[in-house]
Amino acid sequence: MRRAMAEAEVGDDWYGDDPTVNRLQDRVAELTGREAAAYLPTGTMCTQIAVHAFSRPGRFVVCEATSHVGGTEVTSSAVLSGVAFHRLSGDSRAMLNAGQVASALAPDPYDVDVVDLVCLENTHQVGGGTAMPVEDVRAIHKVCADRGVPLYLDGARIFNACAVTGADVADYAGEVEAMMFCLSKGLGAPIGSVLVGDHEFIREARRLKILFGGAWRQAGIMAAAGLVALAEGPRRLHEDHERARRLASGVAEILPGTIDPDAVETNMLFVDVMRAGHDVLNIRERLAAEGVLVTMVAGKIRMLTHVDIGDEEIDAALAAWRRVVDALPPAAPEEETA
Ligand SMILES: Cc1ncc(COP(=O)(O)O)c(C=O)c1O
Repeated sequence: MRRAMAEAEVGDDWYGDDPTVNRLQDRVAELTGREAAAYLPTGTMCTQIAVHAFSRPGRFVVCEATSHVGGTEVTSSAVLSGVAFHRLSGDSRAMLNAGQVASALAPDPYDVDVVDLVCLENTHQVGGGTAMPVEDVRAIHKVCADRGVPLYLDGARIFNACAVTGADVADYAGEVEAMMFCLSKGLGAPIGSVLVGDHEFIREARRLKILFGGAWRQAGIMAAAGLVALAEGPRRLHEDHERARRLASGVAEILPGTIDPDAVETNMLFVDVMRAGHDVLNIRERLAAEGVLVTMVAGKIRMLTHVDIGDEEIDAALAAWRRVVDALPPAAPEEETA
């Protein structure tokens, strides 16, 4: 990947003449079966451009309550596009269903609450890296199409979803008006995400890219890494998933009741140390001191597997967890309920 980056042929992506960026965009369009693609610095920029392109200020965007767009990015959309979110509670895996979306799109008799866009996330991060089957996306798309509302897919980790559902990335991309996925994260590029859709949408996305300050000149250096990630990343994701399950099983043994290994679907796992009476930040710090870096998401410890995490790293992480848990003060007693 580093060699491909060093040898990349570059141009100026502001003018659309970086040959490596163009090659990546063509490849992604071909792979997803969509008319065109725009290569952008981050997944967040892809989504914010889609929100901006599909909505008008004062309108609503429907999403799952714990989704990235409706949580981490919610103020970005408020500032950049002036929209408000109608956040629907997903099930225990943070999945939405077509019935919920249909209710959210029911026409407002006063024509005040107008929904311009529905967003899905697949895999769903806070849901636990959970994968939505393509049939469910299709059912939601039908509801949206009946109401004339576009459907957008935050597919930051769509290839992880493909690896477990067996669907092709084009199956997902074909069920939405626009979709993005990250070349960083599981696919292994250091940076970069791609937005796909029809020609008209991508033409507007490229205009918004410049407007939002994302015309990144000789981006071919990064696109070269993206091309390698795309060629090599998807086929090895099942290894990350297997390692995530092994990590979860190990943690479940070390700290029983904090994680269900069977609930681990893809490359991420959430350990609910509070359920065992422990403090999340304390454990995070102790793991960091052992060289195991984890994040806190939704009050739990989130761990991820990726291309740089092999079997040895899983063994090392579990040994660190064991040392951290053995050194913990006794768990706080559970509060008595009346
Ligand atoms: C589901 C999801 N969507 C979007 C993003 C944003 O991607 P980026 O960090 O490239 O902006 C993330 C980042 O973690 C994510 O988990």
